[in-house]
Parts: sequence; structure tokens; C-alpha cells
Amino acid sequence: MDPVEQMYHENILDHYKHPHNFGKMDNASVHHHEYNPLCGDRIEMFIRVEDGRIADVRFAGKGCAISQASASMLTDAAKGKALAEAEQLTKDSILEMLGITLTPIRLKCALLSLDTLKNSIHIYRAYVAKQGDATSDHAHTGERNG
Ligand code: FES
Repeated sequence: MDPVEQMYHENILDHYKHPHNFGKMDNASVHHHEYNPLCGDRIEMFIRVEDGRIADVRFAGKGCAISQASASMLTDAAKGKALAEAEQLTKDSILEMLGITLTPIRLKCALLSLDTLKNSIHIYRAYVAKQGDATSDHAHTGERNG
């Protein structure tokens, strides 16, 4: 493994062992969970929206190093962003953060957190549109098959 690849691997392991933004949130505007049907691993995400921005985001779950590290990195990236900006995060954003090449199966692991984030925002928007009030809502859903 070359030194750059080694560095990315160590970074992934560090996020896995010491995940950022890990835990639940009492005052989330939306929370939602997804799972990877190939292995059953899960990610639950909690997002607090204020003035159209992600004021705070946390995640909980269990899974492999790639799924948990990508959730840690993605929540770092999403925090403080406007919802529309967070929606621009893509598969390539995740791959860039991870910095390693992934097999299709591992890609599914990496994208679990992105699917959870995107679907959480989607659910939040749908909930707010229905309520006609963007500030005092809590949208909560059941799980969707990732
Ligand atoms: Fe389950 Fe990676 S092996 S998400």
C-alpha cells in the first residue's frame, strides 16, 4: 500500500473508532433510518434544521468500518450547510472523503449514510410542505430499505 493510500485507510479507521457526531438527538427536526439489505447494517440520522440550514446532525447505528466512517465524514461535511447544499453531496463526495477505491459491495456500505441523509432531507421537506411551517416540526419515519 502506498503512503497516501495508507493515510486514507488510517483516516477511515480513525473515524470508525472515534466517530464524529455520533449519538442521538432529542430535538431533531427529522430523524430517519436506513439499512443495507445485504448485511442488515443500519444508520439512523437526526437532523436539526434552523433557518433552512443543518444546525446539527448526528447519527447512530452499527455497521462495517466503511459505513460508519462515511457517516462520520458525511455528517461533518453536512453540518452547517443549507439543505439545498447538503442535497448536492453525491457519491463522488463520499468517495473523495474516503479516498480509496471501493468494490460495488463496499460502495453500498459507503452510500448508506448518503442515502440516509438525502432521504431525511426529502422527508423533512415533504413534512414541512404538508405542515406549512418550517420551524417547529419533527418529522419521523420508519425505515426504508437502503
Ligand atoms: Fe454492512 Fe458494510 S458490511 S454496511
